[in-house]
Amino acid sequence: MGLATRNLQAFLMMAALFQVSLGAVYMVGDSAGWMLPILGIVDYNKWTSNKTFHVGDIIIFNYNSLFHNVREVTHQNFKNCNATSPIVSYDSGFDAITLKTLGHWYFICGVAGHCQMGMKVDIKVTPFSPPPTASPPPAPAPISGA
Ligand SMILES: *[C@@H]1O[C@H](CO)[C@@H](O)[C@H](O)[C@H]1NC(C)=O
Ligand SMILES: *[C@@H]1O[C@H](CO)[C@@H](O)[C@H](O)[C@H]1NC(C)=O
Repeated sequence: MGLATRNLQAFLMMAALFQVSLGAVYMVGDSAGWMLPILGIVDYNKWTSNKTFHVGDIIIFNYNSLFHNVREVTHQNFKNCNATSPIVSYDSGFDAITLKTLGHWYFICGVAGHCQMGMKVDIKVTPFSPPPTASPPPAPAPISGA
């Protein structure tokens, strides 16, 4: 195979890699995955508390689909642990969800009682560069003729 073809293939592969790596990928609950937060093994509030989610990031729910599921719900249904009319239902056991919009994304386990036991996570997607509270230092003058 010619060098040009090889370069083209390498370029296309890089482009594909770049596209999928634009956002960060988070495993919900890290190594614990998506489970009943019993015995202090995982706490989904703590899990989100030191993370910053942006548009384009991917969250993955990793769980045993015999025992759990994932339901995206409204804020109201998140608060009430009501999974009767989810926005989207996921049941694969390994659900990768791309966070496409700013704001809160609410997920609960739809199996009876699990959300009440803490199997719920509120993902807040924030802008990349929040407006600075103080005025930034003046930008350096552009170098002309560079
Ligand atoms: C969040 O906290 C966990 C455990 O304390 C730590 O392992 C992880 O690196 C932290 N993540 C960030 C983005 O600070
Ligand atoms: C659950 O939510 C649905 C639709 O949002 C609503 O019709 C139903 O009454 C709710 N159930 C409970 C127990 O709140």
